[in-house]
Amino acid sequence: MPPTHPRPDAHRAGPSRRGLLGAAVGGLAAAALPAPLRLPSATATAATLAGSWALRWAPSAASVGLGAFETIEDDRADSHTAGQPHIYPVGDTFRFNMHMVDRDTSTDRQRQEVTGMRTSGSSYLRWLPGETWRTTYQMYIPSSLKATTSFTHIMQTKQPGTGTSPITVMSLRRVNGVQTIELKLFESNILVGRTDLVPLHDSWVDVDFQMKIGDGTAGSVRWILRKDGVTLVDGTKTGVDTFLLDRVRPKWGIYRSLGDTSGSLQDCYLLLRNMRGYQLVDGPAAVDHQAEDAFISQGVVESNHAGFSGTGFVNYDNVTGSFVEWTVPASTAGPATLALRYANGTTLNRPMDIAVNGTAVSAGHPFNPTGAWSSWATATLTVPLTAGTNRIRATATTANGGPNVDKITVS
Ligand code: GCU
Ligand code: CA
Ligand code: CA
Repeated sequence: MPPTHPRPDAHRAGPSRRGLLGAAVGGLAAAALPAPLRLPSATATAATLAGSWALRWAPSAASVGLGAFETIEDDRADSHTAGQPHIYPVGDTFRFNMHMVDRDTSTDRQRQEVTGMRTSGSSYLRWLPGETWRTTYQMYIPSSLKATTSFTHIMQTKQPGTGTSPITVMSLRRVNGVQTIELKLFESNILVGRTDLVPLHDSWVDVDFQMKIGDGTAGSVRWILRKDGVTLVDGTKTGVDTFLLDRVRPKWGIYRSLGDTSGSLQDCYLLLRNMRGYQLVDGPAAVDHQAEDAFISQGVVESNHAGFSGTGFVNYDNVTGSFVEWTVPASTAGPATLALRYANGTTLNRPMDIAVNGTAVSAGHPFNPTGAWSSWATATLTVPLTAGTNRIRATATTANGGPNVDKITVS
């Protein structure tokens, strides 16, 4: 049962009323939600009074494959090269294979895991203190992946790097001989939730994991499992420690001890699909996508004109056809507001074609002079997004190239 008392020390004005304290705001939360923001309907009620879940990660296994993740720990000790790859996409699903012969660097255990949420070539999400993050996905646990008397973790949060314990673990554990799935805070051994595993075997289960990152007593965790729309477990712990150092990073896969005494170990696998990453933000969800992190064709990243956000802006080559293309996730199809921040220090319009997934949305969209290269303006248009990954491209249509482009904001 979620506690009903206010969380002791919220970092910001809003969070104490928010999602992780679902019980405190109760049914009011759903009623007071801002207009739908392309949140999956099944999870929209988990958004809250003052905030929204901004979708920041929605990789397509079919198109980006393991590029969805920050790191891949596929048989990192090379114990079973014949079985490699153990982790790979199958259509829209990520598959993790575990064979009895697989061994991690510590040979009393096995590990096939991926970490983190990669959003583009060199960018990945960073969960930092004071922030609230969420991941949702569907998970298929075959009956060959059983609960054990020693640890079997299928999702963890950790500080990156070796040498530290997990922060949270989702585990398949035998409790008095019964197979269960549970979520715990690792160091304090606080149980967030637990339910029987056998009814979940061989079916798709919806996972919703939320975490406020906080040291000492500033953190919170909520964990929900649903099957066929029925909630099987919905546990919350507030006032808990969810931070070690640096940042928090989720990881998925199979990490298990060979010390099981129940005879439950066998070759097995785990499937994950529809993986999403959200951050809780104030007000309506609006997500920035920096131009300097996007795909750039005929342009360079620069930072010599003040007023940009992020780490710089893109200076388009002054040619027709130079472009920037952003990869933008959306939970469901529908119109979104696109705000493109730019500077044009000349006295001439620098029009660009705006296209989404290869289809023109606004041909020759004007980007008029802003007075100086350090004066930034925002051009706003409505764009149709599809569920999943969208490619938004801004292409210069004259020999002058585009304006300098700082970022797009999608809301
Ligand atoms: C200047 C300015 C650049 C800009 C360029 C242009 O060189 O410093 O930032 O991109 O003009 O005209 O495109
Ligand atoms: Ca230029
Ligand atoms: Ca920028």
